[in-house]
Amino acid sequence: MNEHTLIIIKPDGLQRHLVGKILQYFEDANLNIDQCYIDTMTDDVLRAHYSQVVDKPFFPELKTYMQSGPCFFAIISGENAVARVRAIEGNTDPLKAERGTIRSDFGTSLNYNLVHGSDSVEHAKVEIARFFGPQPA
Ligand code: TYD
Repeated sequence: MNEHTLIIIKPDGLQRHLVGKILQYFEDANLNIDQCYIDTMTDDVLRAHYSQVVDKPFFPELKTYMQSGPCFFAIISGENAVARVRAIEGNTDPLKAERGTIRSDFGTSLNYNLVHGSDSVEHAKVEIARFFGPQPA
């Protein structure tokens, strides 16, 4: 099934000049980059995006990290894109991620895991609307 999902390349990805390399993983998997832009996350958007972890002890460090510079936002589409993007990104913890995934190849630690990918088709819709506005049905 053709799906759309949101990816975010986190600030260290831009600072380390890894944007091109990271996007290549998705293109090599025959996924499409439909829309993209670069911007720094505001407090409100960050809290909405990480609403499931705002009360966790690691949130202040996550917030500092995510606002340490601009992020790269993109809508990625293709067959089964939501699950495939997550698989290409690898486990949330780069140390546990399979070799050949983005987080294993470039991520440094659980707190600095380089990329985000929506975790379900429903969340992808909400996240795409949050960062790219309403989309045509
Ligand atoms: P989560 O939604 O569990 O993971 P994912 O990004 O793979 O969907 O967590 C959100 C982000 O919070 C995660 O990308 C990195 C950060 N995080 C930490 O910094 N420390 C932690 O212990 C966990 C679980 C997450």
